Amino acid sequence: MSNDITAIDRHARAAIDAAANPAALETVRVALLGKSGEVTALLKSLGGMDAEARKAFGAAVNALKTGLTDAIEQRRRILDAAALDARLQAERIDITLPARPTPPGSIHPISRTIEELTALFGAMGFGVQDGPDIEDDWYNFGALNIPPHHPARAMMDTFYLKAAGRNRPMVLRTHTSPLQIRTMLSRKPPIRVIVPGRTYRSDHDATHSPMFHQCEGLVIDRGITLAHLKGCLVDFLRAYFEIPDLKARFRASYFPFTEPSMEIDIAWDRKTGTIGAGSDWLEILGSGMVHPNVLANCGIDPREYQGFAFGMGVERITMLKHGIPDLRSFYDSDIRWLSHYGTSPLAPVTLHEGNAP
Ligand code: DAH
Repeated sequence: MSNDITAIDRHARAAIDAAANPAALETVRVALLGKSGEVTALLKSLGGMDAEARKAFGAAVNALKTGLTDAIEQRRRILDAAALDARLQAERIDITLPARPTPPGSIHPISRTIEELTALFGAMGFGVQDGPDIEDDWYNFGALNIPPHHPARAMMDTFYLKAAGRNRPMVLRTHTSPLQIRTMLSRKPPIRVIVPGRTYRSDHDATHSPMFHQCEGLVIDRGITLAHLKGCLVDFLRAYFEIPDLKARFRASYFPFTEPSMEIDIAWDRKTGTIGAGSDWLEILGSGMVHPNVLANCGIDPREYQGFAFGMGVERITMLKHGIPDLRSFYDSDIRWLSHYGTSPLAPVTLHEGNAP
């Protein structure tokens, strides 16, 4: 019997060592230790033996079983390590390979225009302010002298949001004008800020997008007049479009939050689209003297302080300056469009001659 055990042990170990991969090793294991394996058969045979014989033989078979189990486990570790080595070898990355050339990134035209607005108005002493995209109805409309029944609300196809625990709805701000209110409530005059930022209206065609950008401007101080508004905005338009003698026209208009209100147009040629030439007028921005009600809503005494405000579409002035025909292309993420209209991150923002302080 013990000869049997020695023989099984020898050929079993030879088979284990010869197994070239995990699957072959498993076959060997089943043949030895599986339900009808060789070693299992020896264990089963213990049942028919007398106590004395079983004791000696049982110990030997169990030792055989433990020894072979260990040998299989050891072989499995060797095979696993070899398989991992082979995979690492096969999947090796040659880090000495030169990188594939990728087109250099560029600044999106919207970001670029916002940088220019910041630089140009910064040179005139304006700081930059921002605020929430999800706005309180009161800041977006009410405090700006636009009561609930006012037709100006219908013009701005507003996205309203239900707000838990509030009796007024929240809105995706339809313009950057609520920042006039937030600014006047949070600090005392003198105030000189611009507010570039995202705005939202339920609108979608070649010249309208549900999300777009505006830039608001607000100046509040003692003795501010229409002359300041005119001087500031004419300087800005000439600097932004880089046309030193650009003609601008102030046309009477209406906004609930300014009195008087004006639309500002610049000269252009309708046929060729050339800005600064020709005898046509192109509307660029809205503006006016801040309405006394708006000042009073913010706790500023209109008899002591006056101010002017303006608002313009960032996409619109960008399209005009760079001849971009379709508004929707701004948000398509088309790499060809971006590399055509984008600017180098290293190119400085130019200030029009003479206007830098
Ligand atoms: N908020 C106006 C709009 O979205 C634009 C505007 C007009 C802003 C006149 C102003 C302003 O600050 O004075 O149509």
